[in-house]
Amino acid sequence: MKNFENKKVAISGGGSGIGKSLIAELYKAGTRDFAVIGRSADKLEALKNEFPEARFILFSGDVSKPQDLKEFTKEIENKWKALDLLINNAGIVSAGPIGEISDEDIISQVNTNVTGLILLTKYALPLLKESKEAAILNVSSNLALIGLPFYAPYAATKGAVKVFSEALRRELKDFPIQVATLYPTGTDTPMMTSSQSQGLHSSEMVAQKAIEGLKNNDIDITLGDAENIKLNRENPVEFDKKAASMYDAMKKRTENHRSM
Ligand SMILES: NC(=O)c1ccc[n+]([C@@H]2O[C@H](COP(=O)([O-])OP(=O)(O)OC[C@H]3O[C@@H](n4cnc5c(N)ncnc54)[C@H](OP(=O)(O)O)[C@@H]3O)[C@@H](O)[C@H]2O)c1
Repeated sequence: MKNFENKKVAISGGGSGIGKSLIAELYKAGTRDFAVIGRSADKLEALKNEFPEARFILFSGDVSKPQDLKEFTKEIENKWKALDLLINNAGIVSAGPIGEISDEDIISQVNTNVTGLILLTKYALPLLKESKEAAILNVSSNLALIGLPFYAPYAATKGAVKVFSEALRRELKDFPIQVATLYPTGTDTPMMTSSQSQGLHSSEMVAQKAIEGLKNNDIDITLGDAENIKLNRENPVEFDKKAASMYDAMKKRTENHRSM
């Protein structure tokens, strides 16, 4: 996507964190039309004050509920007829030893991070096909590139996003629809408040990299340490040793990490 002026953007979870920073970055680049879905109406309403020149479709809904996604995309269709950029950003996390994560938290992570993302893409696709220059940005995680202990269900959902993006990109080869995946690593957002992680990236920086990546037509926009990603890909058994050395610290810092 070469420029962002006059583009119509739909984003899930745009009321906080990386999603809100993506709206800010696009706003700076000239985007004015945003359709945003999130569960908290207050967070969505606050966007109007922060971005006074933007025209918003604000939809209070849950991406894990297919009916909400159908209504959200129907509203976009009624108002805009077409869509240029879909950002699948909404996500939740519940960390800890696998046996201690509730069944409900495991099911919700899959429904929100994977099923919701796939269904929103499915419902938005006919609208993206109406655009001359469209893009889909799926927010995965560094944990899709390096699975770490105590994040097994979350990492699984983000791995699913990675392969969904890859398959979809190949499926859409005959359409002018770019498919990119963002892999943030620890980023200072409400999602991380309950984790004890240090040295977090700012969501502004992550959003800048994401928009730069879209401009460059990048397939994968990675924020994690390139050396570790390479080591894990090429020699996962060697990376097991690194993961083992981090085990106790990871256990401690994930013991209360839950953002649902
Ligand atoms: N922060 C990190 O370190 C990090 C690292 C890698 C990847 N990520 C990914 O980045 C994305 C954004 O997360 P963030 O860090 O910016 O956290 P965040 O501030 O908690 O943002 C998540 C957003 O998703 C929305 N959301 C959650 N569940 C939803 C649902 N069922 N339906 C609709 N909206 C929902 C939330 O709004 P409501 O609560 O109002 O619904 C919130 O605005 C997520 O996909 C996350 O997995 C984050």
